[in-house]
Parts: sequence; C-alpha cells; structure tokens
Amino acid sequence: MPGIILIGAQWGDEGKGKATDLIGTHVDYVARFNGGNNAGHTVVVGDESYALHLLPSGIINPNVIPVIGNGVVVDPEVLFEEIEGLESRGVDCSRLLVSESAHVIAPYHRTIDKVTERFLGKRKIGTTGRGIGPAYADKINRVGIRVHDLFNAEHLHDKVEASLHQKNQMLVKLYNRRAIDVDRTTDELLALGERLRPYVTNTSLVLNKALDEGKTVLFEGGQATMLDVDHGTYPFVTSSNPTAGGACTGTGVGPTRIDRVIAVAKAYTTRVGEGPFPTELFDEQGDWLRNQGHEFGVTTGRPRRCGWFDAVVTRYASQVNGLTDLVLTKLDVLTGLPTIPVCVAYDVEQADGTHVRYDDMPADQAAFAKATPIYEELPGWSEDISQIHRFEDLPATCQAYVKRLEEISNCRISAIGTGPQRDHIIEVHSLID
Ligand code: GDP
Ligand code: IMO
Ligand code: MG
Repeated sequence: MPGIILIGAQWGDEGKGKATDLIGTHVDYVARFNGGNNAGHTVVVGDESYALHLLPSGIINPNVIPVIGNGVVVDPEVLFEEIEGLESRGVDCSRLLVSESAHVIAPYHRTIDKVTERFLGKRKIGTTGRGIGPAYADKINRVGIRVHDLFNAEHLHDKVEASLHQKNQMLVKLYNRRAIDVDRTTDELLALGERLRPYVTNTSLVLNKALDEGKTVLFEGGQATMLDVDHGTYPFVTSSNPTAGGACTGTGVGPTRIDRVIAVAKAYTTRVGEGPFPTELFDEQGDWLRNQGHEFGVTTGRPRRCGWFDAVVTRYASQVNGLTDLVLTKLDVLTGLPTIPVCVAYDVEQADGTHVRYDDMPADQAAFAKATPIYEELPGWSEDISQIHRFEDLPATCQAYVKRLEEISNCRISAIGTGPQRDHIIEVHSLID
C-alpha cells in the first residue's frame, strides 16, 4: 500500500494527528502537503501529549522519515522552536526533510495577517494570525520567498525588496504602520536559512524514489475539506488545498501513485473561527459537547464551536476527495446522550419564501449560510466504550449509530476512536493493506 492520503473531512481538529500516529507505525514517510503552523495536531503516547503545528505527526515515530512538502508554508522560527521543544523531550528531529520549493512565512506575513483581520472588522475570517494567508497570497502573486532563496544573499535581497515594495506602501498609507526594513529582513532570513540548510532537499525526488522502491508514504493534510480554498466555505477558509488533490500538488507526487484516501471525521462537528456552520449548537448541549470533548484549540486555545454530525458535509468530503475510508473519532464523547440528532440534509429558504431540500452541498455560499439542518434522531448509549476493541462488542445502539453514519456519509468507516490514547481505537478494516 504505497501512497496513502490522510485528511480532515470537516472543519479541522478531527483527530488527524492521532490517526497519522496510528497508521505511522506501518509507513516509511509522513509528508505534510499543505498549510503551515495554523495546524494543531495532538498525539498522545502513554502519559506524554505532543502538540504539533508545522512538523508532520510522523515525527514522533523514530522509524518514520518526516517530510515538509513544497505545498506547505514554512515559518522557520516556528520550525526551530518546535524542533527544540521536541528534542528537549527526547524526540529526535534530525531525520526531517524540508522541500527547497516550499514558501517561507516571513515576519511581515504575520504582521499583515493581523492588520488585515483588524481592518476587516466584522467581516474578519478569524484566522490563526500565523501569516498563512499572506504567505500563500504572495505565492500566487509570484512575489513569494521560497526555501532555496534563503541560500543566496543577493537574490534574496532582491526578492524581499520586490515583496516589500507594495506591502510597505500598504502598511504605511493604509494601516498607519511603520515600513519594514528590507536589509534587516534579508539578514534575518539569511540567518534562518543557514539553520534550515541541513534539512533542505528535493523532497519530490525523495518521495518518488521512495515510492519506486515500494516504500509507504503517508500524505498528511493540515486543516480539512470544508476549509479548502476551492471546495470549502469560501471566504471562511484557509488559503491552501487540504483536500486530496492538494497532496499531489503539495508534494510533487502524481495522482497515479495514490492507493488510498482516508478522511478523519468526528462523531459530531466542530469549527474554529468565523463562517457558516449549519448544525452549530448555541445552547447548553453545545457547552456539553465542548466540555465532554475538550474542544479548545491546540494552536490558539480558542473554544471550538460545537454541533451535531453533519452527513451533508461528510458525503461532500467523500465526493471531492474520492474517499476510500473514514476514521470516525471521538465516539466516546457522545456516551450518555439518550438520543443523538444527525443532520441528513438541509432546508434552505429561497428568495421567494419557498423551501428547498438539499441532499448535496450547495455551491452557493449564500444558500449554505441559510441552511437549516434536517435531523434524524438516533438512539444513544450509556456504557463506557473506551476499553472496547472490537466493533461487535460496542452497545447495539452505538453500532447502529456508526452504521447509519457510514450509510449517509457514502463511505465505509474503517476505524473508530474511543478515547485520546493511542490504543483507544477499534479497527474495523485494516487501513494499510
Ligand atoms: P487534528 O488537528 O485533526 O490533528 O486534531 P486536534 O489534535 O486538533 O484535536 C483532536 C483532539 O481530540 C485531540 O485533543 C486528541 O487527543 C483528541 N482525540 C482524538 N481522537 C479521539 C477520540 O477518539 N476520543 C477522544 N475523546 N479524543 C480524541
Ligand atoms: P488542523 O490541522 C481548525 C481555520 C481558522 C480560520 C481559518 C483561516 O488542526 O485541523 P488561517 O490562519 O489558516 O488563515 O485561518 O481556518 N483553521 C483551522 N481550524 N483546525 C485547523 O487546523 C485550522 N487551521 C486553520 O480558525 O477560521
Ligand atoms: Mg487541530
């Protein structure tokens, strides 16, 4: 099983870190292909909990080679902080490979992220403030700095000058800020480049050779389907492609080399930041889910917005990603509910006052913003499921809940998370052969 993509099916924080760690014991490489340190992935090993942002979750596993692909935006300062933090806890990071073509998040991208959000006011996206959007904007605008640019002083100075030319006008004239100094920024980036150099290589070549040799590569997505800049709830999205297609463009590996596309979905739904969320709960049930599920962001600490499982979202994820498997996480969190509502379709009021049922995701975001969930009520269970390792041993109503989610999501559920620990998992179908 050489090429496996692992992504988020909803709005992020589905438990991708845990799923990567689970599969990671059977793979040779784990490659991040999109996003940057806006991601927050938790891996729990025994009593140790690791919060990873930029590094692939595979870094925790000594047999895995972790790779940061060309599609990732790399903040070198954050990378070194993360490496130092892990190495101080005994995790060896020397195997890390960083693409020479990945774009760099410079200090000015962070500044622009923050001032833009402030400027947007009530239209803000609720970004993580890590400079992700401005770094990708520069990439698309063809004024970005790539990792290999950090190794050539003259060339880099030229690029920083080109990039800051317009930004400084904007910072000074529009945002009333001080201009950013080209020479100082270039020197800072050059110093960071020197530290980065040992990790940098042609990762597309490395990964393709690995696949040629029959090695297994796991392509790990940051963020999730509904945050995809093309397929998500635009403009309330991140600025990259966390969907399966992004794994190819973000690593330089062709689609014919992918054998499996696995998405992780929670047994309910959460979202961080602004934007529409049809099954969101604003009452004590939402608070209950947040407390039971410890739904607070790994990156920003923000409380996550919580709601019921939305099968329109997971069906859509099956469609746009060509999913082969779903990993359903946090099923344990629902324990104790007498009944559990599950959204199967949307009701959308039209301009003329009539109501239309949507079984598929509306492409029009104005319609999506008005979508009201059509719920089906499923019976709950009260037994502790965290120690169960076989699907057949789950309470009957819990099995029925999973089976129904599988049916309405249009994808088989191959693993079920029953708690945060590594062994809190039920494997229904093998994820690696
Ligand atoms: P990611 O961004 O998709 O990697 O997910 P996060 O790490 O941001 O958030 C997922 C949270 O859920 C983490 O705190 C995990 O430790 C936790 N988690 C993952 N799977 C399960 C599960 O099956 N049950 C419970 N209770 N927690 C889980
Ligand atoms: P993981 O990998 C949840 C959200 C932000 C904001 C929007 C844009 O842990 O699942 P950005 O800083 O990317 O420009 O912010 O995207 N967002 C996430 N939400 N999980 C994430 O990552 C996220 N990464 C970005 O909250 O709404
Ligand atoms: Mg997260």
